[in-house]
Amino acid sequence: MVDPQLEIEPYLEAAAQKSMRITHIFETHVQADHLSGARRLADATGAPVLFHQSAPVRFPHVEITDGEDHDLGNVRLSILHTPGHTPDSVSILVTDKTRAPEPWFVLTGDTLFSGGVGRPDLIGAGSETTFAEQLHESLYGKILKLPDHVEVFPAHFGGAACGKGLSGKPGSTIGFERRFNPALRLTSKSEFVQFVLADLPPQPEAFAENRRRNLSGE
Ligand SMILES: [Fe+2]
Repeated sequence: MVDPQLEIEPYLEAAAQKSMRITHIFETHVQADHLSGARRLADATGAPVLFHQSAPVRFPHVEITDGEDHDLGNVRLSILHTPGHTPDSVSILVTDKTRAPEPWFVLTGDTLFSGGVGRPDLIGAGSETTFAEQLHESLYGKILKLPDHVEVFPAHFGGAACGKGLSGKPGSTIGFERRFNPALRLTSKSEFVQFVLADLPPQPEAFAENRRRNLSGE
């Protein structure tokens, strides 16, 4: 399970229907837009909650690091640390070994969206520019190094306040975003930083409180 919402029944039902167990609960970052269901799901399943090692989470969890692989049967999950939206953001590269030895899709969390990128201003007022620069490095140094055919499944699509300009389409490909994502068509890092910090939607009031609760696990 990746980025569970607070309402966990649908996940338990989906797993039961397929006679599968939930063995890992990954968070792509400490969420601000919703209350996480990770702890509830961990209590219900006994599965560990996994966060990047830089996440300042104050409840029991397993720390993951860049480059780490998790083999789940025929599926391999490879962790890419992609800071920018938050310092602890990760993307998860998924390989179905029954199809190919190479990754098939990437779960980009709030790093890369269909039509946009994650906003770098949600935490650490005053650090927006540093985070925006990190986002540039994560995108160009890691995500866009992937081949064009790799599918992209972000944590949000149109309507979410975690970025701007998001498409209503829930998925995309690396190639499509490389060619048509407005944030990825700028020539210099400084233009990118300027672009991602401009015209951001207001931060919903609940974001700070959600983040606080998701950190403490209460
Ligand atoms: Fe987010």
